Amino acid sequence: MSKKTTISLIKCDVGSLAGHHVVPKPLFNVAEKTLKEAAEKGLINNFFVFNAGDDLELLMLHERGEKNNEIHKLAWDTFTQAAGKALEMKLYGAGQDLLKNAFSGNVCGMGPGVAEMEIEERASDPIVVFAADKTSAGSFNYPLFRMFADPMSTAGLVIDPHMLCGFKFEVVDTLEDKSIILKCPEEMYELLALIGSVGRYAISRVWRANDDLICAASSVTKLSLIAGKYVGKDDPVMIARAQHGLPAVGEILAPFMHSYFVQGWMRGSHWGPLMPVGLKASKCTVFDGPPRIVALGFQVANGKIANDDEGNPMIADLFDDPAFALARHEAMQNASTLRRMGEFEPARLSSEEMEYTTIQQVLGKLGERFKPIKE
Ligand code: F6R
Ligand code: MG
Ligand code: MG
Repeated sequence: MSKKTTISLIKCDVGSLAGHHVVPKPLFNVAEKTLKEAAEKGLINNFFVFNAGDDLELLMLHERGEKNNEIHKLAWDTFTQAAGKALEMKLYGAGQDLLKNAFSGNVCGMGPGVAEMEIEERASDPIVVFAADKTSAGSFNYPLFRMFADPMSTAGLVIDPHMLCGFKFEVVDTLEDKSIILKCPEEMYELLALIGSVGRYAISRVWRANDDLICAASSVTKLSLIAGKYVGKDDPVMIARAQHGLPAVGEILAPFMHSYFVQGWMRGSHWGPLMPVGLKASKCTVFDGPPRIVALGFQVANGKIANDDEGNPMIADLFDDPAFALARHEAMQNASTLRRMGEFEPARLSSEEMEYTTIQQVLGKLGERFKPIKE
């Protein structure tokens, strides 16, 4: 059997420059140093460090499989070191997402977000990874549905005979910690019945139906459920595999041609338009947003991100493109419409969702002043 390659994308908010805005250079330096050492030791094959707003993102390629103790420990130690540096520099929110003190086996359930995919490399394997800031697990339900189930978005579902078999979706119920697998197109309506509730259900994996080829993986960690209170947004990550019997890279990106609404933004308490941006604009500003997403493309080659002639990983900054200017413009128009509503729903999340935010402390204080209404 051929050797398998694992793509691990693990992220954490370890502290940020000027509020919850952006990961500064010194934290990149910490991550690049630790991952370089790990590559030299042969633990990982190569890597790319980037940021989605205030989240430090570690993209690592290796051959140790998913939820591997050593790889997760490497990520945890990297985040811990970077958080130490953030604390020393008095950056904002130092160590914010490191919710547990001691590492135990893997980082799942400890704060960092994880998307991992172990693959048997095809002759050529194009990959797109996504990372979003100021939003929550469940925010990828809509684009994943468009990519792998919606023939009005992915033409290949109709035109490519290798995709006619459809795709299977694993959906996690984040409140009750259980999951279900649904097959499209047969169970498309049932799938939509669940994943439309983005605050509760999140698509975690997608496979091609006829051969169970893994096509997508995304993080479904709910920070508020781990911590039992508001500690910042989940800021999910996702890996999608493309081409040759799977959606083309262009079909993977097509759902982002228009902005759509996600939960998060200021204080994790508002609906906001998701804005696709290149790495240069991967920073949150107005009303701590708007929520942003970056997309990086690469080829997997012999257990690595394919390198250039100098030995550097070749990364395509896919949203750094005027083709997404319309979505960015729509995002700002919708942002301004929503912000005119201030603290009134639907700009603010429903009271059910607000249960996981700091407004509970405000409401708690008012509780005892409420008096029964006498008839
Ligand atoms: C959203 C987020 C920010 C903060 C906001 C207030 O995920 O992290 O919008 O909630 O900036 O932050 P504090 O309470 O730290 O002043
Ligand atoms: Mg933060
Ligand atoms: Mg963040």
